[in-house]
Amino acid sequence: MSNDAMDPGRRTWIGIACGAGAIGTVATAVPFVSSFAPSERAKAAGAAVEVDISDLKVGEMATVEWRGKPVWILRRSPEQLASLKKTEPLVADPQSKRNPNELTPEYARNEHRSRKPELLVAVGICSHLGCSPTAKLQAGAQPSLPDDWQGGFFCPCHGSTFDLAGRVFKNKPAPDNLEVPPHIYLSDSRLLIGEDKQA
Ligand code: FES
Repeated sequence: MSNDAMDPGRRTWIGIACGAGAIGTVATAVPFVSSFAPSERAKAAGAAVEVDISDLKVGEMATVEWRGKPVWILRRSPEQLASLKKTEPLVADPQSKRNPNELTPEYARNEHRSRKPELLVAVGICSHLGCSPTAKLQAGAQPSLPDDWQGGFFCPCHGSTFDLAGRVFKNKPAPDNLEVPPHIYLSDSRLLIGEDKQA
């Protein structure tokens, strides 16, 4: 993990528009993955970000920055993948049919919302007013969440919740699922975020 990647000045998306100021950071269990770093200017212009995910363990989530936004990479366990079947009837857009061109590339329009079933890659920005939700990966009852919580993400700004595929639950302020950014695997351990075609 590079110290540079942890620079709080680069994490200005956290808490955007969150009057409560309840989220100062991404959950502490969420490490930044060190990645080959394009220049600041290139990143601002939207350069793709290559990430080494070889150290990401089952059940762990990492956050990298792409176009000034947090992108989550979660290596889901078999139990977490299985939870998607349970949440399917509870989410508002289970098949990711809303705004597919903006939110869900064709290769992620499946039950996992991902290229590889175990790996979720999603932009960590709430589709309501742009806060960054908090990872609540642990299943089970906990404050602000339903007793049958299967693990997912909670936006403290206005209470929207998302499952472990970034699908928004029904009757929440957020209108849409979390965005799946363009991405491609260059190898088993190298993920490129921001492009989905190999040069
Ligand atoms: S910004 Fe309002 S619920 Fe997330």
